Amino acid sequence: MGVQISPSILSADFTDLAREVARVAPRADWVHVDVMDNHFVPNLTLGLPVVRRLAAVSDLPLDVHLMIEDADRWAPDYAESGARSVTFHVEASAAPVRLARTLRGLGVRAGMALRPATPVEPYAEMLPELDMLLLMTVEPGFGGQRFLDLVLPKIRAARTLAKSHELDLWIQVDGGVATETIERCADAGADVFVAGSAVYAADDPGEAVAGLRAKAEAATASSWWGAT
Ligand code: DX5
Ligand code: ZN
Repeated sequence: MGVQISPSILSADFTDLAREVARVAPRADWVHVDVMDNHFVPNLTLGLPVVRRLAAVSDLPLDVHLMIEDADRWAPDYAESGARSVTFHVEASAAPVRLARTLRGLGVRAGMALRPATPVEPYAEMLPELDMLLLMTVEPGFGGQRFLDLVLPKIRAARTLAKSHELDLWIQVDGGVATETIERCADAGADVFVAGSAVYAADDPGEAVAGLRAKAEAATASSWWGAT
């Protein structure tokens, strides 16, 4: 698939989300929607009614990132909301294999997210059940946090696993991704990049997306895993 950019509307104007999505639509691949329940993370954002409306009015496919407890109970509803990709946290799922299969069965891409301190190795055997692995590069809950370089070896390990098993697995990074950090992520093995503040704090969010993409593509082309 190559590099994909998924701007996070967490840093956008919540009173005018349709317009905020439209500002990035010509340049982005997805729009990243952060659902937080104030239990799995200490913050509260939006839920199903807003996701349904966004899916109806957005020109971009929705990449929903669920930061909620009891993902097994709630994630299927998001898969039926009009979203194209639904990502749950493994720390919030009692049966991640079953949930990934349920999501795929409902016709969406199945994503699974790991907090920074959650290792990828225990999940090596279930990677074929996933369309995307999200490796959080900050503790989830808030935009504008500092990128955690300690996640880079995990990105590399995940890409190594995907390559060795010949999986078509997208590896997404989320948190602190900006012009200063995106090359490190791409070089390590990420190919889907979430950026909130780096996009929506810019004067021209569309230009910011294009700038991030150019950096990620250049870094991928010269990387250990992406050079063809
Ligand atoms: C944080 C969210 C992110 C957030 C990233 O828990 O999952 O999607 O919007 O924001 P930035 O890019 O500003 O770190
Ligand atoms: Zn997110």
